[in-house]
Amino acid sequence: MVSHDILIVGGGLAGLAAALTSDPKLNVAVLSKVHPIRSHSVAAQGGINAALANSPDAKDDSWEKHAFDTIKGSDYLADQDAVELMCQLAIPTMYELDHWGVPFSRFPGGVIAQRPFGGAAYPRTCYAQDRTGQVLLHTLYEQCVKKGIKFYDELLVTSLVVQDGRCLGLVAYDMGSGEIRSFSAKAVIFGTGGYGRIYKLSTNSYINFGSGIGMAYRAGIPLKDLEFVQFHPTTLYGKNILITEAARGEGGYLVNNKGRRFMEDYTPTAMELAPRDIVSRSITTEILKGNGFENAYVHLDLRHLGREKIEKRLPGIQEICINFYGIDPVDTPIPIQPAQHYSMGGIDVDQDCASPIKGFYAAGECACVSVHGANRLGGNSLLEAIVFGKIAGASASKFINGGGFAGPRDADITAEAKNLNDRFESIRKRDKGHNVYQLLNDLKILMSEKAGIFRDGKQLQEGLDGLAGLREAYKDAYIYGSCTRFCQEFVTLVEFAYMMDLAEAILLGGLKRTESRGSHSRTEFPKRDDVSWLKHTLAAYSEKGPVLTYRTVNVDKYKPQERKY
Ligand code: FUM
Repeated sequence: MVSHDILIVGGGLAGLAAALTSDPKLNVAVLSKVHPIRSHSVAAQGGINAALANSPDAKDDSWEKHAFDTIKGSDYLADQDAVELMCQLAIPTMYELDHWGVPFSRFPGGVIAQRPFGGAAYPRTCYAQDRTGQVLLHTLYEQCVKKGIKFYDELLVTSLVVQDGRCLGLVAYDMGSGEIRSFSAKAVIFGTGGYGRIYKLSTNSYINFGSGIGMAYRAGIPLKDLEFVQFHPTTLYGKNILITEAARGEGGYLVNNKGRRFMEDYTPTAMELAPRDIVSRSITTEILKGNGFENAYVHLDLRHLGREKIEKRLPGIQEICINFYGIDPVDTPIPIQPAQHYSMGGIDVDQDCASPIKGFYAAGECACVSVHGANRLGGNSLLEAIVFGKIAGASASKFINGGGFAGPRDADITAEAKNLNDRFESIRKRDKGHNVYQLLNDLKILMSEKAGIFRDGKQLQEGLDGLAGLREAYKDAYIYGSCTRFCQEFVTLVEFAYMMDLAEAILLGGLKRTESRGSHSRTEFPKRDDVSWLKHTLAAYSEKGPVLTYRTVNVDKYKPQERKY
């Protein structure tokens, strides 16, 4: 048994920010499924929002305007007090990151450069070329090393141990040694990221199975607003690698097979810089109308930006297009299609990142405070991960220093580890059954077909029925290989159970929500319905499936209006 005061699960931005603000007198460790600098935060490209008002076009920007844009972008489902907190903290956070050594791109004169992004009234997105996630992650990791934070790399946490409403620790599969290990802690913070890989087309890393969200759910914490799934409008056709929104922020056009900038038919003022839910639906509609190429994609045209601007501001995009598609955006339009990108919903936590389980906290994409509501604005996810990661570290420290934690109960954790070990052993003895990769593939197809950009009740119900079949098949899933170390089949098998739970919460939440709001677009209920549905969905785990309840949204400041862009 290994013991720490605070155990942070996830080596991405939320986890590292939590580690940095944890009380240095406490014994803090980060457990990560991969080496921290390979966490999915590294893949973020376009930037991080803060109303610094550095751009000559943004002199009267303010955190209040950032908050309003975020609330409007969320289709009024975000909690307005939480959004205000995030947008206020964005400004000092950016200077702190700058002082920690983040190599932001600069305007002449040396201030942090800012570019336009979707749904934002001003150029407000701070960036480092188109590799913003990478530089943030590397800088925060350096700061953690400087602070002496202990890291456990390449461990898959398999379950949280909770007794009497208190979090006691967790159990993990140590991929390097093949062992099942037990960890006790006074507080646990999850920064485990999203579940993108339950979809067939996703910008997410192959590590993003969402099992952290599933573990919290099974441990008794409700999941909030899981039906809201973000599809990024521009991913490289057929590969689904992110082509940053910054490409449109820098002036890129979306063009159909008639050579038209079709966004003028959908959002004539914002054009390509409308929020993501709207742009993704517009692209999909164009393709359905027969205005796409090969009935599958449209073009993102950057040619008019010129070589110098592309190479200076979007070098990563140029490299991706050359390496993965054999085209240079300097002279060829990029074929793009929407793909799953982000989860607005997640583990239900409050503004201190605290959950209903004492000693358990969550931040970043796995959590839902909620600041994104029904649709997140680009550039707000890096911000949320860092701002709320920091809050989580401070909250967990305060909890421990206040003496609210449970005493050591190693026996409970050891028992959970033994359960997992026995399960692993018994699965390894099976020599036939269902192949877990086949089940995973089936789940991805099901989610893409039944809970995509446009949904209807029939599809969502079919999704739930199909999922019941997958659950049945999973009962005799087996491991083909004989490996114990780095056994990816075992990893997938463990995570798949959680993925099915998340899929069920998405499908059921979506089926019950008979309106269209943000990313949730029900074809038979095309309008937003504030009378019946201005509320958060909470899904609680039960053996019979999710139990749904609803919670009021904080709309104290801005009265919901029709979104116009
Ligand atoms: O398009 C992008 O660069 C992604 C940014 C984000 O998801 O915030």
